[in-house]
Amino acid sequence: RYEKIWTVVALLLIVAFIGTVTYGAVGAGVKMVDDSGGTVDPGSLGDTEFADPGVTQVGEDSYEVHVVARQFLFQPGTSEPIRVPANSEVTFYITSADVIHGFELAGTNVNTMAIPGQVAKVTVRFDEPAEYGIVCHEYCGGGHHTMAGQLVVV
Ligand code: CUA
Repeated sequence: RYEKIWTVVALLLIVAFIGTVTYGAVGAGVKMVDDSGGTVDPGSLGDTEFADPGVTQVGEDSYEVHVVARQFLFQPGTSEPIRVPANSEVTFYITSADVIHGFELAGTNVNTMAIPGQVAKVTVRFDEPAEYGIVCHEYCGGGHHTMAGQLVVV
């Protein structure tokens, strides 16, 4: 009968954790929507929107950001921060030029994989100015632990 009690306790803890994560994401004004952005030939990124990756304004307060991950950097993000304005909705299109990488905005629930041949699409609302670290959370080779970048909401 103790097993039953512990099962209930465990379930309650899980519910509490999920609640915390959800509240944290909403509280920060950051919302992640993840759906497929389609496919792309990783050998021909130069013939796609990924030829000149970066921020594009597509509406009054909406932006698109194309990001290429490769060993061991994000372009843009690593050598220069990605800059978007506050009170904006930003759709990220993320792909990889070589192996599987991760794309995580530290401290938020924005977290996706960057897979060669596929485009990850993530829409995020940024309500206030902030700085976020971008980290690669998939092991991608010897420089994995150095693969990071920055997103600045101004
Ligand atoms: Cu890229 Cu780990």
